[in-house]
Amino acid sequence: MAPNWNLYSWRDKEAAQQPPWPDESVHQEVLDELKQQPPLVFAGEVRQLKDHLAAVARGDAFLLQAGDCAEEFRQSHAKIIKEKLKIILQMAVVLTYGGLKPVVKLGRIAGQYAKPRSKPSEVVNGEELLTFRGDCVNSLEPTPAARTPDPQRLLRAYHQSASTLNLLRAFTHGGFADLSRVHNWNLDYVKNSPLVHKFDSMAEAIYQSLEFMRACGLDSSRFPQLHQVDLYTSHEGLLLDYESALTRVDSLTQQWYNCSAHMLWIGDRTRQIDGAHVEYFRGVRNPIGVKVGPTCDPDSLRSLITALNPENEPGRIVLITRFGAEKIAGFLPGLVRRTKEMGADVVWSCDPMHGNTFLSTSGFKTRHFDKILSEVNQFFQIHRAEGTVPGGIHLELTGDHVTECVGGTDEVRDEELPYRYSTACDPRLNAKQSLEIAFHVSELLRSHRNGL
Ligand code: PEP
Ligand code: CO
Repeated sequence: MAPNWNLYSWRDKEAAQQPPWPDESVHQEVLDELKQQPPLVFAGEVRQLKDHLAAVARGDAFLLQAGDCAEEFRQSHAKIIKEKLKIILQMAVVLTYGGLKPVVKLGRIAGQYAKPRSKPSEVVNGEELLTFRGDCVNSLEPTPAARTPDPQRLLRAYHQSASTLNLLRAFTHGGFADLSRVHNWNLDYVKNSPLVHKFDSMAEAIYQSLEFMRACGLDSSRFPQLHQVDLYTSHEGLLLDYESALTRVDSLTQQWYNCSAHMLWIGDRTRQIDGAHVEYFRGVRNPIGVKVGPTCDPDSLRSLITALNPENEPGRIVLITRFGAEKIAGFLPGLVRRTKEMGADVVWSCDPMHGNTFLSTSGFKTRHFDKILSEVNQFFQIHRAEGTVPGGIHLELTGDHVTECVGGTDEVRDEELPYRYSTACDPRLNAKQSLEIAFHVSELLRSHRNGL
């Protein structure tokens, strides 16, 4: 066990971004109930993910972490979950085919309900309201009652995470993710796009390879990798009371695991070295993501890595960098060099979304596809120059036909943003834009592999 750590040692530190629950005793009752609930994920699965991430850090696999900025309770029906899974499966197969290495699939899903905010309140229609902090805290609806934090929502978040995860497990292990069905992962609304034709040609080539192997006498039923997929779950570990209530001792190893998701990440706003989030996460054995933005200098990064992974365990730390296309070149090389000096074993993953947000002329929070691509390109270039591994990509996306990010081959224009802008928080890539990124990154992986 981590020295001087216990499940609640974080309470002696400053915990940023915790909701102002109106009645602490009701909050406590909910937490007591959560403590009685079964774990959502199991320590053995978490260890498996850590092994896969260790392979990512060595350059033997690639990490795709993707999903909503904020999941919503009202978006819980099977069709929506299936559409998100389809786009992740499509992207993963494109990346595997182009990059020629296994892709570790990690959803921002089945628990991504809590959001950090830059301000505690906002003015809507002349009225001052508490800000929306994610469906597990309050409601997006702009009324004082809806914005009041309600601890019962934590229970709903737990149950909704459980049912989402249940469906994902069924889809990924029950035949839907079988590689011979790769054609069926196309999303209905994307049917007539050049990207889909590109995807279909790739799917046909995969199908032909499987047929060829069968003709050679290889019995594909003996290879579970061809018939099912491991999709791991992740969310920002923001609400420390909730996370602690779902933290359990593994009966096999006697170590503490957070059982609300396979991987959790610490956000850019909560990674203070002497803060409660770092204190809590240093004591659980899950892989931990750390969002790293322009305010993280090399010394702070070194302290964070030392606190969270003192034994330099491979697969434990994923550094999710989010500088923005204009800043990455100024910040990333220094951080990469510091980790090299330390000999730290880390996964570097590129979040090209959060540093590239701006307000459109029509007043919508958006991101430009070209800036997203530019940050990804620079991420690969910098790692090539430094001799380190560009290990993964972290995206906010949806299988829905949304117009939230501008640009892309099938250009979403500024004036089109209001058409289908439905995110509860940050703007997401739609399925076409996501597929386009996947083809682009698969080319980058291919060039990186060939030393270009
Ligand atoms: C997020 O991932 O939605 C988020 C809030 O990111 P960051 O902590 O990097 O701002
Ligand atoms: Co976001």
